[in-house]
Amino acid sequence: MARFWVCVAGACTLFALLVLHFHICGSPVFRKLSFQVNWNTKEILYRLDVGWPKYSEYFTGTTFCVAVDSLNGLVYVAQRGDNIPKVLVFTEDGYFLRAWNYTVDSPHGIFAASTPHEQSIWITDVGSGSYGHTVKKYSSLGDLVQVLGTPGKKGSGLNPLQFDNPAELYVEDTGDIYIVDGDGGLNNRLIKLSQDFSILWLRGENGSGPAKFNIPHSVTVDSTGRVWVADRGNKRIQVFDKETGELLGTWDNCFVQEGPSAVRFTPDEKYLIVAQLNLSRLSVVAAPPVGDIGMCSVISTIQLADQVLPHLLEVDRKTGAIYVAEIGAKQVQNHLCETQPLSLLPEL
Ligand SMILES: *[C@@H]1O[C@H](CO)[C@@H](O)[C@H](O)[C@H]1NC(C)=O
Ligand SMILES: *[C@@H]1O[C@H](CO)[C@@H](O)[C@H](O)[C@H]1NC(C)=O
Ligand SMILES: *[C@@H]1O[C@H](CO)[C@@H](O)[C@H](O)[C@H]1NC(C)=O
Repeated sequence: MARFWVCVAGACTLFALLVLHFHICGSPVFRKLSFQVNWNTKEILYRLDVGWPKYSEYFTGTTFCVAVDSLNGLVYVAQRGDNIPKVLVFTEDGYFLRAWNYTVDSPHGIFAASTPHEQSIWITDVGSGSYGHTVKKYSSLGDLVQVLGTPGKKGSGLNPLQFDNPAELYVEDTGDIYIVDGDGGLNNRLIKLSQDFSILWLRGENGSGPAKFNIPHSVTVDSTGRVWVADRGNKRIQVFDKETGELLGTWDNCFVQEGPSAVRFTPDEKYLIVAQLNLSRLSVVAAPPVGDIGMCSVISTIQLADQVLPHLLEVDRKTGAIYVAEIGAKQVQNHLCETQPLSLLPEL
């Protein structure tokens, strides 16, 4: 049974629907639909999809991360544990397809890099075994295609490139790769690699000053060329220019209680969905369209039950659904983004 609370303006209801007075799903279909209804009264809501996945018994470990290949309608979940499949593949409808654990030690972050030409799954592995301290690329069937880092050996080297607890990565359609390294290890840095894996730039050293990091835990890139990093230990989000690596701005006013553990955009890029692990909370944060990021402003929150512990998340670029990897509840849940049912809309 899903444990799910929703809070609006401080009032919480079990299983109630979260109604946001903003356009959030961001898919062209929803936008068209909502214009036909009424722009001013249009409302968007997130609804927990209790039917996803169809059978939750596939979650036999601790579910650390989730990736969505919206081109092909596939959802990849990575979990940790002994003698279990580590990567589980589901359809967006919630049907289990296949699993693998070949060369996966302790997955931390996962990313689906799908173009019309190629379907790839990238995993950051924080294991201390013989496959750990690496960033690995797999085919969608689980064949190992590329290994970055020195398997089984942590380090800070740049040639060859080494990692210590690489936390997450984001891969652009061009093949450029952004890696946050790492999750409490030797390194606190953001690295941009070209599609042939040479270092384009690197930012960050351990610390709390500008462009320094303390557990950079999640990274995403917007279409205007800004790189957004959840600098968890410093309780802030830092934003960089993707071409130069220059620091563009910092949000440090929204996460005073606890640092952000995950950052992902809604499909229209108007909002960032931010997870806070120990607070078991997702926040919808307004994101300025270009340039200076200004101050951070939380528009709404989705309060999950105590101890659910949302670790990393992914937003489906087509539907706007939020998939959350919950390390406390040991499951992945799907929050559908929908327009309000027509029957609930005011008379036109
Ligand atoms: C890999 O997964 C299978 C089940 O799919 C399991 O029997 C096996 O023990 C796992 N191997 C490891 C190394 O975890
Ligand atoms: C990094 O710096 C923070 C303070 O900003 C400190 O608490 C932490 O121990 C340092 N970590 C490493 C790996 O040096
Ligand atoms: C969450 O709480 C655990 C246990 O108290 C702690 O070890 C961990 O550092 C906390 N994580 C964050 C992001 O605050």
